[in-house]
Amino acid sequence: MSAAVHPVAFNPLDPAFVASPYETYAALRDDDPVHWSKLLCGWVVTRYDDVAAILADPSMSSDIRRATPNPIVRIELDGLAKHDRAGRTIVHLDDPDHARVRKLMAPPFRVREVDRLRGLVDARVAAALDRLAAATGATGSEVDLVAEFAYPLPVEIFSRWLGVPDEAAPRFRYWTSWVARSRDPMPAAEREEFFAALDAMYRYLEDQAELKRREPAGDLLSYLVHAEDGGDALGHEELMAQLITLYMAGHEPTASLVANGVLALLHEPGELAQLRADPGLVPNAVCEMLRFDGPNQFVRRVTTEPVTLSGTEVPAGDILYVGLASANRDPRRWGADAGRFDVDRTDADDHVQFAGGAHACLGAHLARLQAERFLTGLLARVDGLELAGDPTWSTRMFIRGLQSLPVRCTVRP
Ligand code: HEM
Repeated sequence: MSAAVHPVAFNPLDPAFVASPYETYAALRDDDPVHWSKLLCGWVVTRYDDVAAILADPSMSSDIRRATPNPIVRIELDGLAKHDRAGRTIVHLDDPDHARVRKLMAPPFRVREVDRLRGLVDARVAAALDRLAAATGATGSEVDLVAEFAYPLPVEIFSRWLGVPDEAAPRFRYWTSWVARSRDPMPAAEREEFFAALDAMYRYLEDQAELKRREPAGDLLSYLVHAEDGGDALGHEELMAQLITLYMAGHEPTASLVANGVLALLHEPGELAQLRADPGLVPNAVCEMLRFDGPNQFVRRVTTEPVTLSGTEVPAGDILYVGLASANRDPRRWGADAGRFDVDRTDADDHVQFAGGAHACLGAHLARLQAERFLTGLLARVDGLELAGDPTWSTRMFIRGLQSLPVRCTVRP
């Protein structure tokens, strides 16, 4: 372990960090790239090379049960003891269980399959823009782009793909807002509310899965209920854990990607103008949005062997907070203009916002498709887009997202 006295303060709950974590990341990368956080009882890793090495290292575990007990680990283990299904999520499995579950789930998430959802996504974007047109009127009243556009859409789209009725979307929005917080350290009282939301969501999805078991309907849920690989299938509890994970992993980050991305465009009118002039740049702009201010700040890993990162020795059994968002701004990787938002950046696609290695985001194609179609729809129909007030950020540590993005605009029919 490094014995140096570290001068950089890292407090993910500090309002200044919430407003913009990037200054802290820069200081950590320069002066304390493998930072011991007393608050998180683990190491905060911020340089691109270290992050990439951890993501590619098969000795790294995603299972908190392999960590040496400390206060954070104990809180989580208590939670898992009471609600064991949370431990079955693909996100927290190691091989061979991880590889097995991933193989059963993966086929519908491949790029060719996901591309088939383009019509559904476009129809939902068009309907959302119609609603936005009604809200802003001909004169361009103020609206909250998060509440009216970025947040509801991914839930609606995923629920439709999964095959649950549209009417359930508002409930899923409530449930997922809780579930998405589960990766942050949480006080005990909040954890109870979180588990209550999880139970309600679980019961609803269980009924839906039972329906598809009896009557397959050609949707994602029917696929997963009946998925088979050489006689192997997802057990009931296993399936339920993955369904909740899909909601947890999918909505908040997709909504945040769109909202954070639009904010970046509002701060850089030149980039917005370039995108309007050449909508062919949209896929690259989405990669740049993922790199520049992507939602996933960290993934967590547990070391199972001692490892040396930027000269710091980390023993086996320790927790690593792997700084994806910091890596994406590291000038050692991206050059001196790493902190500039550039829709034309040629290597933007090398970002690590979807992590990498065995646990690389399963929903990456869906997330990109949605963001590209959302953005294309906005560019085609929204005029005079401008900030109408200060945006507010949620205080989550793992997912950086806007709680509100007040804008003024007019929407063409
Ligand atoms: C902008 C949007 C998204 C971002 C930035 C994102 C990011 C990530 C990251 C960083 C991981 C790795 C977690 C870890 O290693 O601990 C991950 C895993 C995962 N993501 Fe996403 N995600 C997004 C959208 C989605 C969507 C739309 C879905 C599906 C509906 C999805 C499903 C998953 C699943 C199932 C995993 C677990 C994969 C595994 O452990 O093998 N994600 N995502």
